[in-house]
Amino acid sequence: MHILSFLLISLKLLFFFYEFAFATDSISSSESINDGGRTLVSGDGRFELGFFSPGSSKNRYIGIWFKKVPVKTVVWVANRINPINDSSGVLMINSTGSVVVVMRANKTVVWSANSTKEAKSSVVLQLLNSGNLVLRDEQSSGDGLGSYLWQSFDYPCDTLLPDMKLGWDLKTGLERRLSSWTSPDDPSPGDFTCGVERQGNPEIVMWKGSNKFYRGGPWNGITFSGTPDLRHNSTFEVNFVNNEDELYYTFKMIDKSMFSILVMNKTRYERERLTWSETTQNWNVHSRVPRDYCDDYGFCGAYGNCIATQSPSCQCLEGFKPKSTGYGDWSKGCMRNKALNYSKLDGFIKFNRLKLPDATNCWVNKSMNLKQCRVKCLENSSCMAYSNLDIRGRGNGCAMWFSDLIDIKQNLNGVQDLFIRMSASELGTKEGTKMKIVVIVTTTAAVAGVLIVGYYIYKSRTDLEKSESKGKTNQKIEDMELPLFELDTIANATNNFSFNKKLGEGGFGPVYKGTLVDGQEIAVKRLSNISTQGINELRNEVKLIAKLQHRNLVKLLGCCIQGEEKILIYEFLPNKSLDNFIFDQTRSKLLDWSKRFHIIWGIARGLLYLHQDSRLRIIHRDLKTSNVLLDDEMNPKISDFGLARIFNGDQNEGKTNRVIGTYGYMAPEYAINGIFSIKSDVFSYGILLLELVSGKKSRGFYHPDHNLSLIGHAWKLWKEGKPLELIDPFFRESCNESEAIRCINISLLCLEHQPDDRPSMSSVVLMLGSDNALPEPKQPGFLIDRIPGLEPDSSNKPEFSLSNEVTISLLEAR
Ligand SMILES: *[C@@H]1O[C@H](CO)[C@@H](O)[C@H](O)[C@H]1NC(C)=O
Ligand SMILES: *[C@@H]1O[C@H](CO)[C@@H](O)[C@H](O)[C@H]1NC(C)=O
Ligand SMILES: *[C@@H]1O[C@H](CO)[C@@H](O)[C@H](O)[C@H]1NC(C)=O
Ligand SMILES: *[C@@H]1O[C@H](CO)[C@@H](O)[C@H](O)[C@H]1NC(C)=O
Ligand SMILES: *[C@@H]1O[C@H](CO)[C@@H](O)[C@H](O)[C@H]1NC(C)=O
Ligand SMILES: *[C@@H]1O[C@H](CO)[C@@H](O)[C@H](O)[C@H]1NC(C)=O
Ligand SMILES: *[C@@H]1O[C@H](CO)[C@@H](O)[C@H](O)[C@H]1NC(C)=O
Ligand SMILES: *[C@@H]1O[C@H](CO)[C@@H](O)[C@H](O)[C@H]1NC(C)=O
Ligand SMILES: *[C@@H]1O[C@H](CO)[C@@H](O)[C@H](O)[C@H]1NC(C)=O
Ligand SMILES: *[C@@H]1O[C@H](CO)[C@@H](O)[C@H](O)[C@H]1NC(C)=O
Ligand SMILES: *[C@@H]1O[C@H](CO)[C@@H](O)[C@H](O)[C@H]1NC(C)=O
Ligand SMILES: *[C@@H]1O[C@H](CO)[C@@H](O)[C@H](O)[C@H]1NC(C)=O
Repeated sequence: MHILSFLLISLKLLFFFYEFAFATDSISSSESINDGGRTLVSGDGRFELGFFSPGSSKNRYIGIWFKKVPVKTVVWVANRINPINDSSGVLMINSTGSVVVVMRANKTVVWSANSTKEAKSSVVLQLLNSGNLVLRDEQSSGDGLGSYLWQSFDYPCDTLLPDMKLGWDLKTGLERRLSSWTSPDDPSPGDFTCGVERQGNPEIVMWKGSNKFYRGGPWNGITFSGTPDLRHNSTFEVNFVNNEDELYYTFKMIDKSMFSILVMNKTRYERERLTWSETTQNWNVHSRVPRDYCDDYGFCGAYGNCIATQSPSCQCLEGFKPKSTGYGDWSKGCMRNKALNYSKLDGFIKFNRLKLPDATNCWVNKSMNLKQCRVKCLENSSCMAYSNLDIRGRGNGCAMWFSDLIDIKQNLNGVQDLFIRMSASELGTKEGTKMKIVVIVTTTAAVAGVLIVGYYIYKSRTDLEKSESKGKTNQKIEDMELPLFELDTIANATNNFSFNKKLGEGGFGPVYKGTLVDGQEIAVKRLSNISTQGINELRNEVKLIAKLQHRNLVKLLGCCIQGEEKILIYEFLPNKSLDNFIFDQTRSKLLDWSKRFHIIWGIARGLLYLHQDSRLRIIHRDLKTSNVLLDDEMNPKISDFGLARIFNGDQNEGKTNRVIGTYGYMAPEYAINGIFSIKSDVFSYGILLLELVSGKKSRGFYHPDHNLSLIGHAWKLWKEGKPLELIDPFFRESCNESEAIRCINISLLCLEHQPDDRPSMSSVVLMLGSDNALPEPKQPGFLIDRIPGLEPDSSNKPEFSLSNEVTISLLEAR
């Protein structure tokens, strides 16, 4: 017994030493790494260096990859352009202290690390825990900071690891740029690169060959103006360093249990941020750029603003008109309505929520403030715009643009202001329309009992500065039915609309969670754009909608209309929306059949109330799982009802040329012709039913056997007489079969192609509640998941996908 355990321990020790001997993290000049032999492993075991063959290629390369990640993820390759076609490669330190990769057969050097520094003693090559391969003097502690003779972090391939620098060492002129692989089989540099543009106001740029095709926008101290939502992620922290010595972008992990990389896609022109998921053992795409076609460099031409959610997406900035009259021809961009005075008579209009224009021709000064910046810009007739360099605090630094403004995009999360030069006469018209406020003063003359109505028209001020400051309209609380909140209260309750408080982003703007001073939790919807109607109409509309009260509708608590801010305040529901449950593997288990049927029933009641039982006839127009919230007892509550009405106050019936809705839920007649009715809501309800029963998303539904949409799939199973197969396997056994089949039958009735054939919500409620036989459904619309005219042309552009959550708006095709 004792002898056996002694033997076992010795064996373990032996293995330990064996592993230790072959897993050291450095090699000295007397050692080498042969193809097929040992590898180099970082001290923490995360990274490994050795020979490998990418994809289906037989070529041999030396590279660094994640040791423990089952999907081989190579982050760095040494001999990218010089592969070895057999297994004769050797990595070694030659007698003059250079790291070289040679072919054993005839000693040809296929790659060498060119150190510019002289080694003082013998050198070692070490793979650090960061994934950095460094060559250092054996004596030096090897703690970085210039002590390395050479490091792989200075020669990035297609992957940026945490703490790596993307950009310039301005003292040595070294540029660190990412370049894609040519293909998944070939790591040689492709024509797709990413680096930091030095000129003007620096920013991250991606190129195809020598053509710029994506800009991240200048850094504003917190984030890049092209990706404003990047900030405040507790997982990693990004930084942009711009001083005399260095100019680079970098990021580091805050949450050390997570790991994130930035990588150039090997098959398409896209850069992705991937995060490793321990649970799925796979890389998750955290974000990618370009985000949409509006990120295509200069898509809308000079002074054009690209708004991805609108059609046409290109719109001229205020004060500009299209240069070309041809429909859809944006290459020429926009021109001024009124020519500039090119003098101090000119002024500026403030724009915000924009990705700042191409900053290559910018002139910057870090010590000037915004006022000095304005004066300086006005002095020089070729200065077209200015802004702060850094928006932290009250903002500081000055950037001025000395060329036409190009590559502007709408960014609803953007916070940086851009001041664009305008002629005096343009500013005059702006003043005229915006600053004229009509105030009606009513007084009662006691004796005569005569009502005197006086009009006072505030003359527009000539002070040009005025146009730069936001007009503040404070509404008096005169209507006790609908509480009006002060903007300050709402800002305070949401930590100034902090990213951390954001619950989500709907079609009409972001939603935040807030806590009022008395502890009440609220949901705050910040409407992003309602320019189509005046403040009074808006308030009336909100008042009407606030009167709609039903236990299956989210309660509107009040609103805040102040200056440019239009905000709706709703009751807060902690359980979030239905899509968070039914499409989530674990949480979907919380909704068994009886809960689902309860939800199906509740949504039908809520919708019926909107359509028929309320004083207003409300057509929701964007009913979907993410617009159904659940309270703590899993009662469904429809949200965002009436918003379509607010946004198109003048359109109460029939036909619209601005379609609001979500691809995947829209009825055919609405998606294609813009015709909406209560029956287009019934169609969306039908989709919701299918999703609740099947646990599958309508948008992006995929079946290995056919290319039908979820509707087509349901119809196929129905016609084949096996509707039960549609039911989510999780509760297929336990559900009430007749109820489930009834729901599928009702959903197919709701999805019928002709609006007139679809039942009304009152029939739906009746059918859900009775045991009577149901009509046999006819063939539904959208058997295949395609809407003519809505499919983006993906052949030549980076693919632009309308995601499940994005609400789309488009003009009807003419
Ligand atoms: C490798 O390349 C050399 C010269 O390019 C060629 O002579 C040799 O046959 C190749 N070996 C293999 C295995 O393809
Ligand atoms: C070592 O490699 C470097 C880089 O390829 C080369 O310049 C140098 O001559 C080599 N030294 C010897 C002794 O081979
Ligand atoms: C060594 O072999 C490689 C490929 O096998 C070949 O390309 C190269 O020209 C050879 N070098 C010499 C010096 O013979
Ligand atoms: C090292 O220098 C040689 C000759 O100047 C060059 O061909 C090679 O690309 C350089 N290698 C690296 C890794 O920069
Ligand atoms: C930050 O990114 C990670 C990785 O995707 C994500 O899991 C996390 O929720 C994000 N945090 C915030 C505060 O957005
Ligand atoms: C690159 O894009 C392709 C196509 O969308 C995708 O399948 C692949 O996962 C992407 N690569 C990475 C590294 O994310
Ligand atoms: C920046 O502006 C400050 C203040 O106006 C001025 O003193 C300084 O010379 C400027 N710097 C440059 C590089 O123009
Ligand atoms: C205006 O600024 C540009 C760019 O800095 C400069 O070249 C030009 O001389 C300036 N013009 C005047 C009148 O100051
Ligand atoms: C400058 O603007 C004023 C105000 O609109 C206009 O009357 C005047 O003609 C303009 N002057 C020039 C030189 O364009
Ligand atoms: C802002 O919130 C804090 C606590 O969250 C509270 O003490 C303070 O009174 C609030 N201020 C206003 C103006 O509501
Ligand atoms: C919100 O912003 C204002 C002004 O920028 C600041 O004074 C206030 O402290 C901020 N409040 C919170 C809760 O961050
Ligand atoms: C709001 O929408 C209108 C038309 O729908 C558009 O003209 C305007 O530019 C938009 N404004 C913003 C800030 O998005």
